[in-house]
Amino acid sequence: MNDTALSPSPTETLSVKDNRTGKTYEFPIQNGTIRAMDLRKIRVDEDDFGLMTYDPAFTNTASCRSRITFIDGEKGILEYRGYPIEQLAEKSTFLEVAWLLLNGELPTEAEAKAFTEHVCLHTYLHENTKKFMEGFRHDAHPMGMLLSTVGALSTFYPAAKNIFDAKQRAHHVIRLIAKMPTIAAFTYRHSIGFPYVYPDNDLSYTGNFLSMMKKMAEPKYKVHPTLERALDVLFILHADHEQNCSTNAMRGVGSAHTDPYSAVAASTAALYGPLHGGANEAVLKMLREIGDVKAVPAFVQEVKQGSGEKRLMGFGHRVYKNYDPRAAVIKKLADEVFEVTGKNPLLAIALELERIALQDDYFVRRKLYPNVDFYSGLIYEAMGFHSDFFTVLFAIPRTAGWLAQWQEMLLDPDQKIARPRQIYLGPARRDWVPFSERRETTAPLVA
Ligand code: CMC
Repeated sequence: MNDTALSPSPTETLSVKDNRTGKTYEFPIQNGTIRAMDLRKIRVDEDDFGLMTYDPAFTNTASCRSRITFIDGEKGILEYRGYPIEQLAEKSTFLEVAWLLLNGELPTEAEAKAFTEHVCLHTYLHENTKKFMEGFRHDAHPMGMLLSTVGALSTFYPAAKNIFDAKQRAHHVIRLIAKMPTIAAFTYRHSIGFPYVYPDNDLSYTGNFLSMMKKMAEPKYKVHPTLERALDVLFILHADHEQNCSTNAMRGVGSAHTDPYSAVAASTAALYGPLHGGANEAVLKMLREIGDVKAVPAFVQEVKQGSGEKRLMGFGHRVYKNYDPRAAVIKKLADEVFEVTGKNPLLAIALELERIALQDDYFVRRKLYPNVDFYSGLIYEAMGFHSDFFTVLFAIPRTAGWLAQWQEMLLDPDQKIARPRQIYLGPARRDWVPFSERRETTAPLVA
């Protein structure tokens, strides 16, 4: 997108007639949108607040103009800064992609080397972070530990509040990308009661992460190159996905000029939800519940007959109305991983589920295709990760995307503190009454 694409063309306008008053209004159309604030001019009289739109889940509202990630959901296209995801997954490393998201261009060889060294320098955590983490119960969910610990980092780095100091901002962006794998690995070691493993900065970003997860008494952890590369590819695929729920949380919280550690804690919390990053954990649960290839048709039937509460996890997407391009890369990657680890027995159920769903009218009509989470859990499980750790594996790379989007939001003169409007439907003003005059609450939600 160049700057001319942002300026309105005098011929691209929208005429709106308000049938309440008979008045006609003309609004400029820019990049296929009208400005919501233009609608405010549509009023019945002087006292009228003006017209608003009602869009509870932002299904048709652009909240920003971004140059980071492009998705064509109908065609199943995903690009970071113009580069197709398939090419980046095949040819780049995750840290190159993180640089691309943050800076707009792929790094030169020298830039990539310096960036990697810079990230490696910051992988260690303050020793007190370990003490903080020791306070969690042995069975604490790793996402709960991750989001609280990354939020707690804001207390270690009070200077991170200087978000408009470009040098400080870059410094904390690098710290966050560097420290997320360390916190993540520590949450895992905590949950299995094993000692924490400190970073080994001779290793790659994903190699070091695998070492912190898996190393025991050996002096140096030997990373399997296929698994190291597979994890790097999975990190590339998860690095950004434009304005999804957690990125919206990052931008929304960040718009209050919160420090980046607290804002990443908020986006991690959003990612924790089963409709977002928690879906791959839910996919494995579902595949286990199905249990056998023969039980797939009955399960699909159950999903179709229910009133929406039982879903085919790992299927459907708000934006993709076609095969999620990330799912296609992951499906191919699964074969390479299974060559090393042996096949995940749940794969046969997943393949059958996909086969049946893709030819079933219910899923075809609603354009429900496998999304990124449908196959990723199978790979993670084969690599020895517990299912409650899957969302953590999503949060690590997505941190780069969150930070790129946060930075773009801070530098965008159009942005202000995010503050949606509402339509108030509650009681009209009434006076307080004593107990003697009150009636029992019908069906209290909280009692
Ligand atoms: N299984 C069965 N039916 C579905 C599914 C599904 N997975 N997803 C949507 N539908 C139906 C839904 O019941 C509705 O049917 P009807 O029109 O008869 O009421 C129709 O499809 C449209 O669904 P929607 O809920 O309006 O769609 P949405 O855009 O609000 O939801 C979604 C998107 C991803 C939350 C949803 O598809 C879903 O719950 N999928 C399962 C969870 C999942 O895999 N999430 C991972 C998303 S990808 C990773 C990420 O980006 O976080």
